[in-house]
Amino acid sequence: MKVSRRGFIATTAAGSASLALDLKGQDKPATTGALPGNPPKKPIIISAHNGYNYLDRGYAVLTSGGDTLDAVMQVITGPEDDPNDDSVGLGGLPNEDCVVQLDACCMHGPTRMAGAVAAVEEIKNVSLLSKAVMEHTGHVMLVGAGAQKFGFDMGFPRINLLTERSRKVWLLWKETMSNKDWWGPGLASPKYVLPDASHSELYEERIQKMGELAAKLGIEPEFRAAAVQRVLRPPTGTINCSAINEKGEISGATTTSGLAWKISGRAGDSPIIGAGCYVDQDVGAAGATGNGEENIKVCGAHTIVENMRRGMSPQEAGMDALKRIVRNFNGDMAKMQYVDMSYYILRKDGAYAGVCMWSGGPEHPRTFSVHDGTKRNEVAVALFQGKSIGWPPMPERGHLAPEQKK
Ligand code: GLY
Repeated sequence: MKVSRRGFIATTAAGSASLALDLKGQDKPATTGALPGNPPKKPIIISAHNGYNYLDRGYAVLTSGGDTLDAVMQVITGPEDDPNDDSVGLGGLPNEDCVVQLDACCMHGPTRMAGAVAAVEEIKNVSLLSKAVMEHTGHVMLVGAGAQKFGFDMGFPRINLLTERSRKVWLLWKETMSNKDWWGPGLASPKYVLPDASHSELYEERIQKMGELAAKLGIEPEFRAAAVQRVLRPPTGTINCSAINEKGEISGATTTSGLAWKISGRAGDSPIIGAGCYVDQDVGAAGATGNGEENIKVCGAHTIVENMRRGMSPQEAGMDALKRIVRNFNGDMAKMQYVDMSYYILRKDGAYAGVCMWSGGPEHPRTFSVHDGTKRNEVAVALFQGKSIGWPPMPERGHLAPEQKK
């Protein structure tokens, strides 16, 4: 995919201007009054867009009187089981050691219980594993080898999660980009120095060479361009889903293979209760996909639910969480272009919203999926117009030049 620096800069400049005004309103009081109390007249499911194909089976659980967390699991185990979804479960992109490590968490509104697992290897349905932690232990979170052993003890099958396709994409990363990894001061560090943008003309040449290498590695032609992008713009993948029934019972869960090429043991926001997912039976649910590190620091899902408790609409609540992330970068758009985040929000009266940091291009706007008897994708409301660029920054991909940062 070709990133137009000119177009991006135009939109970020507009974003910067509005940001100056919006951040002042971060602590504005509730605009919508008291929290609505009535449950929705029909069940509703909301999910990240990769849940779309599985919404029907989740909705069937709700219409037959099933549990809301079971409905959520019907949705998010879909991408976990799909070897071609390389953001979640089987086929997820591996860490820098070529090992797939998965994270997940869930919350059950009616019982106010929660479960979570992080950095789990060789178990495909970590969403169900987090539910097993919730139901069969006195704990909330298990990690690494302990979580894996618990899973095997509970009867989860041992599975090789690394598909040939994901292994080849890892090889492409290893050969071309592994010297630009996740070590060293990160984007959020004051010590981080954005690379010199003066080599941006090399970007197209690099993409072409990577495409040739992808061919040599045996990556199928129709997937080569996508593979190159996964190396240049390491994705965080992930699916979050929340569901509510006519009784107002609400649950949510999030699952992911996490950030591609991450350092072994890295856990993002997805398994963190309050960051990747949060449910309060009195208020509603929220979940996240995007840069986990940044979401953890604003406790995104919990912040959103608390905002709704104070009377904000789902959209206002989500926008506030996005602005807190921007605030953590002091509104520095040269860095913000590398940060992406989406929130999926469902209030206990059935009001919902999908919000995102960047709108995406006009041809591919950011969407989220909804089922309330009718299954559909809706365009998320964006804080900034334009596309984010993947992390880590590199000179060849360009960023805001000094004169544009003024
Ligand atoms: N949001 C998923 C991750 O950062 O791992």
